[in-house]
Amino acid sequence: MRVRNGREFLSIPGPTTVPDRVLAAMHRPAVDIYDGELLNITQNCLDGLRTVLGTAGNAYIYAANGHGAWEAALTNSLSAGDRILVLECGLFAVTWGGMAEVLGLEVEVMPGRPRRAVDADALEQRLRSDTSNSIKAVLTVQIDTASGVVNDIPAIRRAMDMAGHEALLMVDTIASLGSMPFEMDSWGVDVAVAGSQKGLMIPPGLAFNGVGSKARDRRRTAGLVTRYWDWEFRDGPEHYMKYCGTAPEHLLFGLDESLRMLFEEGLSNVIERHRLLAETVRTAVARWCRGDALEFNITEPGERANSVTTVRAIGTDPAPLIAFCREVCGVTIGIGIGPELSGSAFRIAHMGHVNAPMVLGILSVVETAMAALKVDHGEGGVDAAIRFLGKALEAAAQDTSGSLLPGQRCCDT
Ligand SMILES: Cc1ncc(COP(=O)(O)O)c(C=O)c1O
Repeated sequence: MRVRNGREFLSIPGPTTVPDRVLAAMHRPAVDIYDGELLNITQNCLDGLRTVLGTAGNAYIYAANGHGAWEAALTNSLSAGDRILVLECGLFAVTWGGMAEVLGLEVEVMPGRPRRAVDADALEQRLRSDTSNSIKAVLTVQIDTASGVVNDIPAIRRAMDMAGHEALLMVDTIASLGSMPFEMDSWGVDVAVAGSQKGLMIPPGLAFNGVGSKARDRRRTAGLVTRYWDWEFRDGPEHYMKYCGTAPEHLLFGLDESLRMLFEEGLSNVIERHRLLAETVRTAVARWCRGDALEFNITEPGERANSVTTVRAIGTDPAPLIAFCREVCGVTIGIGIGPELSGSAFRIAHMGHVNAPMVLGILSVVETAMAALKVDHGEGGVDAAIRFLGKALEAAAQDTSGSLLPGQRCCDT
């Protein structure tokens, strides 16, 4: 028996649910790429991206996935043989480093602490010992989508400053932009990389760089520059130069609409919605972890990301649980990925176009699957999640207006 007919929920950490408004904005004929409304849309998208990134620097849009944004960041600011330092905390920073190695960079990986965020003190020590400033860039992710960790980017910046080091700070915000606070300029980030398919709520296919002045200066001497990724070429006067060719129009229509949605909601509200829904998920997972079968991958509660939660299955294969959610109930949750978590974890994504019924529905399906498959879990996770969210929303309503939302009475929890 299946109970999946109806709207299916995608709860993988990218691509995420594309809002109907974005789909509708993309559902239209192509337009001229040399003149007319597309030129304004490009400008809106670049301005909007700068706002979301928190930078007065430059923004660049590539027809590419996140790997493209990685390559653009590296090739515009580095030369073959340059040393870079990659801060391990899961899968993605190290994979970015792998790409750098292929480009001819000398890659040093600072080993991470097991199931923890980057250790800023260890970074400071390492950079202090690099008295000749041989390290040209430090690469990190804000959120690692595999491990579910969030790094403290201001602390990483402070460590670099305390060490008096000149390396560029490059931050991958692919799994965090639009889900957690990110302030490129005030945090001192030199290059931010981002992608379209997660918090920005549009299909995969656009990649972004946010670039500060120090990184732009490095572009002048970078030896790895290629025409397609080149920031400078894309600063040229013609519209086609912004894309080094035909503009990815329909994705831009989508981005223009998704940015409008983010600004209508208000960026701080978007971030707070993610925090509340993430905490709702964590409340349920914490209850489930009272059994013997599950545990949070990230051991420090304060280091768990607000866009994705990675749950380890202890001594059991999570595949039947994942399959039950999808095949029987119509909810697709993420598999564990990377050498450590492949085949031994699942991930619940809570980023982008998500609201309370989606998150509570997804949690309910996971709990249903655990009950049906007799996974040894603590009971009452969904109930605890509902109570958490109810109380948090009650407190928020009282904070902002001194009363509950119009016409509502809060249930007695
Ligand atoms: C944090 C992070 N960085 C980079 C990537 C790579 O992006 P893409 O798969 O779009 O190339 C991903 C993909 O999930 C990611 O989560």
